Amino acid sequence: MGSAWHAMSEHDTSEITVDVHLDPADWSRHLAEETALGLVDRPPWTPPVWFYDEVGSRLFDRITRLDEYYPTRAERSILAAHADAIAARTGATTLIELGSGTSDKTTLLLDALRDHGTLERIVPFDVSEAVLRSAAATLAETYPDVDVHAVVGDFHEHLGHIPSHGRRLLAFLGSTIGNLDPDQRREFLRRVRHSLDGDGWFLLGTDLVKDRTRLVRAYDDDSGVTAAFNLNALHVMNRELGADFDVDAWRHRAVFDEEHQRIEMHVVAVTDQTVSFATLDRTLTVEAGGHLRTEISAKFTEPQVRAELAGAGFAVDASWTDDNGDFLLTLARPA
Ligand code: SAH
Ligand code: TRP
Repeated sequence: MGSAWHAMSEHDTSEITVDVHLDPADWSRHLAEETALGLVDRPPWTPPVWFYDEVGSRLFDRITRLDEYYPTRAERSILAAHADAIAARTGATTLIELGSGTSDKTTLLLDALRDHGTLERIVPFDVSEAVLRSAAATLAETYPDVDVHAVVGDFHEHLGHIPSHGRRLLAFLGSTIGNLDPDQRREFLRRVRHSLDGDGWFLLGTDLVKDRTRLVRAYDDDSGVTAAFNLNALHVMNRELGADFDVDAWRHRAVFDEEHQRIEMHVVAVTDQTVSFATLDRTLTVEAGGHLRTEISAKFTEPQVRAELAGAGFAVDASWTDDNGDFLLTLARPA
Protein backbone atom coordinates (compact mmCIF):
# COMPACT_ATOMS: atom_id res chain seq x y z
CA MET A 1 0.00 0.00 0.00
CA GLY A 2 1.09 3.60 -0.52
CA SER A 3 3.17 5.35 -3.08
CA ALA A 4 5.88 7.96 -2.92
CA TRP A 5 6.57 10.90 -5.12
CA HIS A 6 9.87 12.78 -5.04
CA ALA A 7 10.78 16.11 -6.47
CA MET A 8 13.75 18.39 -6.13
CA SER A 9 12.73 21.99 -6.24
CA GLU A 10 14.71 24.07 -8.67
CA HIS A 11 16.70 26.50 -6.59
CA ASP A 12 17.37 24.72 -3.38
CA THR A 13 18.46 21.53 -1.75
CA SER A 14 15.26 20.64 0.02
CA GLU A 15 13.52 17.50 -1.06
CA ILE A 16 9.76 16.96 -1.06
CA THR A 17 8.44 13.47 -0.47
CA VAL A 18 4.72 12.73 -0.49
CA ASP A 19 3.71 9.34 0.96
CA VAL A 20 0.14 8.34 0.14
CA HIS A 21 -1.33 5.90 2.64
CA LEU A 22 -4.93 6.15 1.55
CA ASP A 23 -5.64 3.39 -0.92
CA PRO A 24 -8.59 4.91 -2.82
CA ALA A 25 -10.71 1.74 -2.74
CA ASP A 26 -10.04 0.99 0.97
CA TRP A 27 -10.62 4.60 1.92
CA SER A 28 -13.93 4.83 0.03
CA ARG A 29 -15.11 1.63 1.66
CA HIS A 30 -14.13 2.88 5.10
CA LEU A 31 -15.94 6.21 4.63
CA ALA A 32 -18.99 4.48 3.19
CA GLU A 33 -19.20 2.22 6.26
CA GLU A 34 -18.74 5.07 8.69
CA THR A 35 -21.34 7.22 6.93
CA ALA A 36 -23.82 4.34 6.78
CA LEU A 37 -23.44 3.89 10.56
CA GLY A 38 -24.14 7.56 11.20
CA LEU A 39 -27.22 7.67 8.97
CA VAL A 40 -29.06 5.06 11.04
CA ASP A 41 -28.25 6.77 14.36
CA ARG A 42 -30.85 9.14 15.92
CA PRO A 43 -30.22 11.98 15.35
CA PRO A 44 -28.32 11.03 12.21
CA TRP A 45 -24.74 12.24 11.72
CA THR A 46 -22.07 12.14 9.05
CA PRO A 47 -18.26 12.03 9.44
CA PRO A 48 -16.33 15.34 9.22
CA VAL A 49 -14.09 14.18 6.42
CA TRP A 50 -16.76 15.20 3.84
CA PHE A 51 -15.94 18.86 4.58
CA TYR A 52 -12.42 18.80 3.28
CA ASP A 53 -12.54 18.49 -0.49
CA GLU A 54 -10.74 21.27 -2.39
CA VAL A 55 -13.65 23.70 -2.21
CA GLY A 56 -14.18 22.94 1.49
CA SER A 57 -10.51 23.34 2.33
CA ARG A 58 -10.53 26.74 0.66
CA LEU A 59 -13.66 27.73 2.60
CA PHE A 60 -12.03 26.58 5.84
CA ASP A 61 -9.08 28.82 5.07
CA ARG A 62 -11.56 31.73 4.84
CA ILE A 63 -13.15 30.69 8.16
CA THR A 64 -9.77 31.06 9.86
CA ARG A 65 -9.72 34.73 8.80
CA LEU A 66 -13.29 35.65 9.86
CA ASP A 67 -13.77 38.25 12.61
CA GLU A 68 -16.05 35.83 14.47
CA TYR A 69 -13.63 32.90 14.31
CA TYR A 70 -11.27 33.75 17.19
CA PRO A 71 -9.53 30.33 17.60
CA THR A 72 -7.00 30.75 14.79
CA ARG A 73 -5.96 34.25 15.88
CA ALA A 74 -5.79 33.20 19.53
CA GLU A 75 -3.67 30.14 18.79
CA ARG A 76 -1.41 32.16 16.50
CA SER A 77 -0.81 34.74 19.23
CA ILE A 78 0.15 31.97 21.68
CA LEU A 79 2.56 30.51 19.14
CA ALA A 80 4.03 33.94 18.44
CA ALA A 81 4.67 34.46 22.15
CA HIS A 82 6.00 30.99 23.01
CA ALA A 83 7.43 29.32 19.90
CA ASP A 84 10.95 30.20 21.07
CA ALA A 85 10.38 28.53 24.42
CA ILE A 86 8.94 25.48 22.67
CA ALA A 87 11.98 25.29 20.37
CA ALA A 88 14.38 25.68 23.29
CA ARG A 89 12.62 23.09 25.43
CA THR A 90 12.18 20.45 22.74
CA GLY A 91 15.25 20.95 20.55
CA ALA A 92 13.17 19.18 17.91
CA THR A 93 14.74 18.16 14.59
CA THR A 94 11.43 16.91 13.14
CA LEU A 95 8.14 18.75 13.32
CA ILE A 96 5.16 16.51 12.55
CA GLU A 97 1.78 18.20 12.16
CA LEU A 98 -1.45 16.20 12.08
CA GLY A 99 -4.39 17.70 10.17
CA SER A 100 -1.91 20.28 8.93
CA GLY A 101 -4.09 21.91 6.25
CA THR A 102 -2.20 24.93 4.92
CA SER A 103 0.38 24.76 7.80
CA ASP A 104 -0.03 28.51 8.06
CA LYS A 105 0.41 29.04 11.83
CA THR A 106 3.00 26.28 11.86
CA THR A 107 5.59 28.58 10.29
CA LEU A 108 5.89 30.30 13.70
CA LEU A 109 7.12 27.02 15.18
CA LEU A 110 9.27 26.24 12.16
CA ASP A 111 10.94 29.67 12.26
CA ALA A 112 11.75 29.19 15.94
CA LEU A 113 13.18 25.70 15.39
CA ARG A 114 15.21 26.93 12.44
CA ASP A 115 16.54 29.88 14.44
CA HIS A 116 17.50 27.43 17.15
CA GLY A 117 19.49 25.50 14.58
CA THR A 118 17.79 22.15 15.13
CA LEU A 119 15.17 21.92 12.35
CA GLU A 120 15.87 19.20 9.73
CA ARG A 121 12.54 17.81 8.68
CA ILE A 122 8.88 18.79 8.38
CA VAL A 123 6.14 16.16 8.24
CA PRO A 124 2.75 17.68 7.33
CA PHE A 125 0.06 14.98 7.60
CA ASP A 126 -3.43 15.45 6.21
CA VAL A 127 -6.26 13.51 4.64
CA SER A 128 -6.72 16.14 1.94
CA GLU A 129 -4.10 15.40 -0.71
CA ALA A 130 -4.48 18.54 -2.82
CA VAL A 131 -4.11 20.91 0.14
CA LEU A 132 -1.23 18.86 1.49
CA ARG A 133 0.70 18.94 -1.80
CA SER A 134 0.33 22.67 -2.12
CA ALA A 135 1.31 23.22 1.55
CA ALA A 136 4.35 20.95 1.07
CA ALA A 137 5.51 22.98 -1.93
CA THR A 138 5.14 26.25 0.01
CA LEU A 139 7.03 24.81 2.99
CA ALA A 140 9.88 23.61 0.75
CA GLU A 141 10.17 27.10 -0.72
CA THR A 142 10.10 28.80 2.67
CA TYR A 143 12.56 26.37 4.29
CA PRO A 144 14.99 25.50 1.49
CA ASP A 145 17.40 23.58 3.73
CA VAL A 146 14.77 21.38 5.31
CA ASP A 147 13.31 18.08 4.08
CA VAL A 148 9.56 18.11 3.60
CA HIS A 149 8.07 14.65 4.07
CA ALA A 150 4.32 14.94 3.55
CA VAL A 151 2.00 12.11 4.53
CA VAL A 152 -1.49 11.70 3.06
CA GLY A 153 -3.34 9.64 5.63
CA ASP A 154 -6.06 9.31 8.23
CA PHE A 155 -4.86 10.29 11.69
CA HIS A 156 -7.15 7.64 13.16
CA GLU A 157 -5.41 4.89 11.19
CA HIS A 158 -1.98 5.80 9.86
CA LEU A 159 0.08 7.24 12.70
CA GLY A 160 2.33 4.20 12.34
CA HIS A 161 3.61 5.65 9.06
CA ILE A 162 5.09 8.77 10.60
CA PRO A 163 8.89 8.90 10.25
CA SER A 164 10.46 7.68 13.48
CA HIS A 165 13.92 9.25 13.38
CA GLY A 166 15.10 12.44 14.99
CA ARG A 167 13.90 14.37 18.04
CA ARG A 168 10.22 14.68 17.23
CA LEU A 169 7.68 17.32 18.08
CA LEU A 170 4.18 16.26 17.06
CA ALA A 171 1.71 19.15 16.79
CA PHE A 172 -2.08 18.90 16.63
CA LEU A 173 -3.37 22.44 16.34
CA GLY A 174 -6.60 24.28 15.61
CA SER A 175 -8.58 22.36 18.27
CA THR A 176 -9.12 19.66 15.68
CA ILE A 177 -9.08 17.27 18.66
CA GLY A 178 -12.43 18.82 19.61
CA ASN A 179 -13.88 17.34 16.44
CA LEU A 180 -13.46 13.86 17.96
CA ASP A 181 -15.92 12.43 20.47
CA PRO A 182 -14.57 11.36 23.90
CA ASP A 183 -13.98 7.73 22.86
CA GLN A 184 -12.22 8.76 19.67
CA ARG A 185 -10.10 11.24 21.64
CA ARG A 186 -9.03 8.57 24.12
CA GLU A 187 -8.08 6.21 21.32
CA PHE A 188 -6.37 8.93 19.29
CA LEU A 189 -4.28 10.17 22.24
CA ARG A 190 -3.25 6.60 23.06
CA ARG A 191 -2.06 6.15 19.48
CA VAL A 192 -0.16 9.43 19.48
CA ARG A 193 1.50 8.37 22.75
CA HIS A 194 2.35 5.00 21.20
CA SER A 195 3.73 6.52 18.00
CA LEU A 196 6.03 8.81 20.04
CA ASP A 197 7.34 5.69 21.73
CA GLY A 198 8.77 7.09 24.95
CA ASP A 199 10.53 10.12 23.55
CA GLY A 200 9.38 13.09 21.58
CA TRP A 201 6.97 15.89 22.43
CA PHE A 202 3.30 16.55 21.84
CA LEU A 203 1.89 20.05 21.27
CA LEU A 204 -1.89 20.25 21.49
CA GLY A 205 -4.17 23.21 20.70
CA THR A 206 -7.60 23.24 22.36
CA ASP A 207 -10.40 25.77 22.35
CA LEU A 208 -11.70 26.70 25.82
CA VAL A 209 -15.26 26.94 27.17
CA LYS A 210 -16.42 30.57 27.10
CA ASP A 211 -19.38 32.88 26.63
CA ARG A 212 -22.00 30.96 24.61
CA THR A 213 -22.78 33.83 22.25
CA ARG A 214 -19.18 34.15 21.14
CA LEU A 215 -18.89 30.38 20.77
CA VAL A 216 -21.93 30.12 18.53
CA ARG A 217 -20.95 33.14 16.43
CA ALA A 218 -17.57 31.53 15.70
CA TYR A 219 -19.54 28.78 13.92
CA ASP A 220 -22.26 30.96 12.42
CA ASP A 221 -20.65 34.05 10.94
CA ASP A 222 -22.57 36.98 9.44
CA SER A 223 -21.06 36.60 5.98
CA GLY A 224 -22.21 32.97 5.70
CA VAL A 225 -18.79 31.39 5.05
CA THR A 226 -19.33 28.72 7.71
CA ALA A 227 -22.80 28.03 6.30
CA ALA A 228 -21.25 27.50 2.86
CA PHE A 229 -18.58 25.26 4.41
CA ASN A 230 -21.20 23.16 6.18
CA LEU A 231 -23.52 22.85 3.18
CA ASN A 232 -20.58 22.01 0.90
CA ALA A 233 -20.35 18.65 2.71
CA LEU A 234 -23.75 17.80 1.16
CA HIS A 235 -22.37 18.51 -2.33
CA VAL A 236 -19.39 16.29 -1.55
CA MET A 237 -21.67 13.44 -0.44
CA ASN A 238 -23.75 13.86 -3.59
CA ARG A 239 -20.58 13.42 -5.63
CA GLU A 240 -18.77 10.79 -3.58
CA LEU A 241 -21.66 8.66 -2.32
CA GLY A 242 -24.12 9.11 -5.18
CA ALA A 243 -26.43 10.95 -2.77
CA ASP A 244 -29.19 13.27 -3.96
CA PHE A 245 -29.33 16.02 -1.34
CA ASP A 246 -31.34 19.00 -2.59
CA VAL A 247 -28.82 21.36 -0.99
CA ASP A 248 -31.16 24.39 -1.23
CA ALA A 249 -33.64 22.59 1.02
CA TRP A 250 -31.20 22.53 3.98
CA ARG A 251 -30.04 25.34 6.30
CA HIS A 252 -26.88 25.69 8.34
CA ARG A 253 -27.19 25.83 12.14
CA ALA A 254 -24.69 25.94 15.01
CA VAL A 255 -25.82 25.17 18.58
CA PHE A 256 -23.99 24.82 21.87
CA ASP A 257 -24.80 21.54 23.60
CA GLU A 258 -24.52 22.24 27.36
CA GLU A 259 -24.55 18.59 28.32
CA HIS A 260 -21.51 17.69 26.21
CA GLN A 261 -19.92 21.17 26.30
CA ARG A 262 -19.62 21.25 22.55
CA ILE A 263 -20.70 23.12 19.49
CA GLU A 264 -22.73 21.02 17.10
CA MET A 265 -22.99 21.83 13.41
CA HIS A 266 -26.27 20.82 11.92
CA VAL A 267 -27.93 20.97 8.56
CA VAL A 268 -31.64 21.51 9.15
CA ALA A 269 -34.29 20.34 6.67
CA VAL A 270 -36.53 23.24 5.54
CA THR A 271 -39.21 20.82 4.30
CA ASP A 272 -39.57 17.04 4.65
CA GLN A 273 -36.54 15.46 2.99
CA THR A 274 -35.76 12.00 1.70
CA VAL A 275 -32.19 11.53 0.53
CA SER A 276 -30.96 8.37 -1.11
CA PHE A 277 -27.32 7.36 -1.00
CA ALA A 278 -26.86 5.22 -4.10
CA THR A 279 -23.49 3.71 -3.19
CA LEU A 280 -24.59 2.97 0.39
CA ASP A 281 -27.92 1.46 -0.57
CA ARG A 282 -29.47 3.62 2.17
CA THR A 283 -32.10 6.33 2.50
CA LEU A 284 -32.19 9.16 5.02
CA THR A 285 -35.54 10.67 5.96
CA VAL A 286 -35.66 13.94 7.90
CA GLU A 287 -38.87 15.83 8.61
CA ALA A 288 -39.13 19.60 8.22
CA GLY A 289 -37.19 21.18 11.12
CA GLY A 290 -35.27 17.98 11.79
CA HIS A 291 -31.51 17.82 11.35
CA LEU A 292 -28.42 15.90 10.34
CA ARG A 293 -25.34 16.51 12.53
CA THR A 294 -22.24 17.17 10.44
CA GLU A 295 -19.63 18.10 13.08
CA ILE A 296 -18.95 18.46 16.78
CA SER A 297 -16.41 20.86 18.25
CA ALA A 298 -15.82 20.16 21.92
CA LYS A 299 -14.73 23.00 24.19
CA PHE A 300 -12.31 22.28 27.02
CA THR A 301 -11.03 23.48 30.37
CA GLU A 302 -7.35 23.34 31.30
CA PRO A 303 -7.83 20.61 33.97
CA GLN A 304 -9.79 18.53 31.48
CA VAL A 305 -7.02 18.70 28.87
CA ARG A 306 -4.47 17.77 31.52
CA ALA A 307 -6.59 14.81 32.64
CA GLU A 308 -7.19 13.50 29.12
CA LEU A 309 -3.45 13.74 28.39
CA ALA A 310 -2.61 11.98 31.65
CA GLY A 311 -5.10 9.24 30.80
CA ALA A 312 -3.11 8.56 27.63
CA GLY A 313 0.26 8.53 29.41
CA PHE A 314 1.34 12.12 28.85
CA ALA A 315 2.64 14.58 31.43
CA VAL A 316 2.14 18.29 30.80
CA ASP A 317 5.41 20.19 30.55
CA ALA A 318 3.94 23.65 29.99
CA SER A 319 0.73 25.28 28.86
CA TRP A 320 -0.17 28.75 27.70
CA THR A 321 -3.29 30.76 26.86
CA ASP A 322 -3.71 33.95 24.84
CA ASP A 323 -4.38 37.32 26.53
CA ASN A 324 -8.16 36.77 26.46
CA GLY A 325 -7.91 33.24 27.85
CA ASP A 326 -9.77 31.95 24.79
CA PHE A 327 -7.48 29.15 23.67
CA LEU A 328 -4.99 26.75 25.27
CA LEU A 329 -1.73 25.39 23.90
CA THR A 330 -0.25 22.48 25.85
CA LEU A 331 3.22 20.99 25.53
CA ALA A 332 3.37 17.45 26.87
CA ARG A 333 5.74 14.48 26.84
CA PRO A 334 5.37 10.78 27.57
CA ALA A 335 5.09 10.38 31.34
N1 SAH B 1 -4.32 22.67 11.44
C1 SAH B 1 -5.04 23.64 10.65
C2 SAH B 1 -6.26 23.05 9.92
C3 SAH B 1 -7.40 22.59 10.81
S1 SAH B 1 -8.81 22.05 9.85
C4 SAH B 1 -5.45 24.80 11.54
O1 SAH B 1 -5.17 24.75 12.72
O2 SAH B 1 -6.03 25.77 11.03
C5 SAH B 1 -8.68 20.31 10.07
C6 SAH B 1 -7.65 19.68 9.12
O3 SAH B 1 -7.59 18.28 9.46
C7 SAH B 1 -8.04 19.75 7.65
O4 SAH B 1 -6.92 20.12 6.90
C8 SAH B 1 -8.50 18.33 7.31
O5 SAH B 1 -8.25 17.97 5.96
C9 SAH B 1 -7.69 17.50 8.28
N2 SAH B 1 -8.33 16.24 8.67
C10 SAH B 1 -9.61 16.04 9.02
N3 SAH B 1 -9.83 14.76 9.34
C11 SAH B 1 -8.63 14.13 9.19
C12 SAH B 1 -8.21 12.77 9.37
N4 SAH B 1 -9.06 11.82 9.77
N5 SAH B 1 -6.91 12.47 9.13
C13 SAH B 1 -6.03 13.44 8.72
N6 SAH B 1 -6.38 14.73 8.53
C14 SAH B 1 -7.67 15.07 8.76
N1 TRP C 1 -11.30 22.36 14.17
C1 TRP C 1 -12.20 23.43 13.80
C2 TRP C 1 -13.08 23.74 14.99
O1 TRP C 1 -13.66 22.87 15.57
C3 TRP C 1 -13.02 23.02 12.60
C4 TRP C 1 -14.14 23.97 12.23
C5 TRP C 1 -14.17 25.32 12.31
C6 TRP C 1 -15.40 23.60 11.71
N2 TRP C 1 -15.37 25.81 11.83
C7 TRP C 1 -16.11 24.77 11.45
C8 TRP C 1 -15.96 22.39 11.41
C9 TRP C 1 -17.40 24.73 10.94
C10 TRP C 1 -17.25 22.35 10.90
C11 TRP C 1 -17.96 23.51 10.64
O2 TRP C 1 -13.15 24.88 15.40
